Amino acid sequence: MKNQEILAAKLAEAQLGGGQARIDKQHAKGKLTARERIHLLLDPGTFEEVGALVTHRTQDFGMQNEIYYGDGVVTGYGMVSGRLIYVFAQDFTVFGGSLSETHAEKICKIMDMAVKVGAPLIGLNDSGGARIQEGVRSLGGYADIFYRNVQASGVIPQLSAIMGPCAGGAVYSPAMTDFTIMVEHTSYMFVTGPNVVKTVTNETVSSEELGGASTHSTKSGVTHLTAVNDVDCLHKVRQLLSYLPQNCEEKPAALPYSLGTELREELEGIVPESANQPYDMRTVIAGIIDEGTFFEIHENYADNIVVGFARLGGKSIGIVANQPMSLAGVLDVDSSKKAARFTRTCDCFNVPLLVLVDVPGFLPGTDQEWNAIITNGAKLLYALSEATVPRITVITRKAYGGAYDVMNSKHIGADLNYAWPTAEIAVMGAKGASEIIFRREIKAASDPAAKLAEKEAEYAEKFANPYSAAQRGFIDEVILPRETRRKLIRGFAMLEDKAVEGPRRKHGNIPL
Ligand code: HXC
Repeated sequence: MKNQEILAAKLAEAQLGGGQARIDKQHAKGKLTARERIHLLLDPGTFEEVGALVTHRTQDFGMQNEIYYGDGVVTGYGMVSGRLIYVFAQDFTVFGGSLSETHAEKICKIMDMAVKVGAPLIGLNDSGGARIQEGVRSLGGYADIFYRNVQASGVIPQLSAIMGPCAGGAVYSPAMTDFTIMVEHTSYMFVTGPNVVKTVTNETVSSEELGGASTHSTKSGVTHLTAVNDVDCLHKVRQLLSYLPQNCEEKPAALPYSLGTELREELEGIVPESANQPYDMRTVIAGIIDEGTFFEIHENYADNIVVGFARLGGKSIGIVANQPMSLAGVLDVDSSKKAARFTRTCDCFNVPLLVLVDVPGFLPGTDQEWNAIITNGAKLLYALSEATVPRITVITRKAYGGAYDVMNSKHIGADLNYAWPTAEIAVMGAKGASEIIFRREIKAASDPAAKLAEKEAEYAEKFANPYSAAQRGFIDEVILPRETRRKLIRGFAMLEDKAVEGPRRKHGNIPL
């Protein structure tokens, strides 16, 4: 055979993965193959494969007779919306996508390239875990990947799609990347599977219940996003990338935008008259940002805080917002962790932060205290305090107690702090405050209820407004809701070239 024919035959074999029968099995489960996934992820015709002819080196258990080109993972680079990215896609049709020494070497090779060049890495995970026939060589391969995940963290965006099994120690690579997205019903993640759980704890649980997309998007928060199928998953990966830069030295690409008046009348009247009536902070977000650009992260986890990316005047921003619709928007363990993580992700990739505040404080209770609301609340305080990206705050209503400090107050380094006229910035609500500081007076009154109401009104008059904070400069300006978008576009433009030198140290010690 001529050279050309030999090469063509080998590449054709590589294209077929573990063979047509296994491809059919993959399709029957509702999953696409590794190559089909890459094809959907990348701009048409841009994929360049690296290592298509790699094979494993195992000589045991009859493996010497089972050789598949590519060894269970397709690796390479290509374009997403015209931007370079590196990708690996595990091929379940070859030994269940299990990770051998050579499979790991292929992944490490493109990870190294991604870091050298400074471009995002996308991992499409679908694997039975460590290649059982290879023993410790496979475990070493995992560790080689984990180590690179950490070295690349904060340098290039790393996104993990979970599109099949991801179990045992294998879960720790996605867990150390910036974002995880799971496909509903066809993917799962757990450290120990249902059989081990049954043996050790005697609990009966299905794979889906233990570690399916719904579990990790609502209960554990392990996944940031979910998708209804492979196509939706890859589409969301492309969308997510559009808000992020190529690496930590760059800013996210801005879309062209020409300024208009930027007044949004619909923002007036969202905050109800009564301080105790809820409203949906997402309507505030929608009223501020470029239409239809909100890309929510962790949508179904800790929904008393809303986080996500959006565009404002064409530029990418990250939003952290209390949600009065859920638990009155209090900060608790999960919402603090969720917002802290998102804040740090935005900060390492130069995405400016908008913080919308309506927070009555921290959630009281033994559950919260025993689950370390102190340490976890400190995570958010720490994350915002150390963030050096442009940071703007808008207080829409309540900003009470310690939560006022935590939610991007001026004191912890926010650049611009705005408040709507409905803002109440105080140590606590008027009723609670009056009950404490006027206790004796109220008790001695002939009509204690009337006295409480009188004192409450007095306290509210003094503190349930943004003006005493504005007098001290803790609030830069009290603005009308309709002006918010314009103020933010101008504010972020003014802060565009913000540069902050941190203190000299090895690294800070965030309370983990
Ligand atoms: C080698 C494997 C494999 C593995 C699957 N296969 N997992 N080969 N090593 N880890 C092979 C199967 O033998 C089969 O080969 C093919 O892949 C497809 O697998 P099926 O079982 O037919 O698929 P399915 O029914 O969909 O079940 C998928 C599965 C199951 C649930 C993942 O394959 C499974 O339980 N695999 C073992 C999982 C496991 O214990 N892995 C090690 C975990 S420890 P044929 O030739 O029949 O098509 C671990 C530690 C990581 O991963 C530590 C990191 C630090």
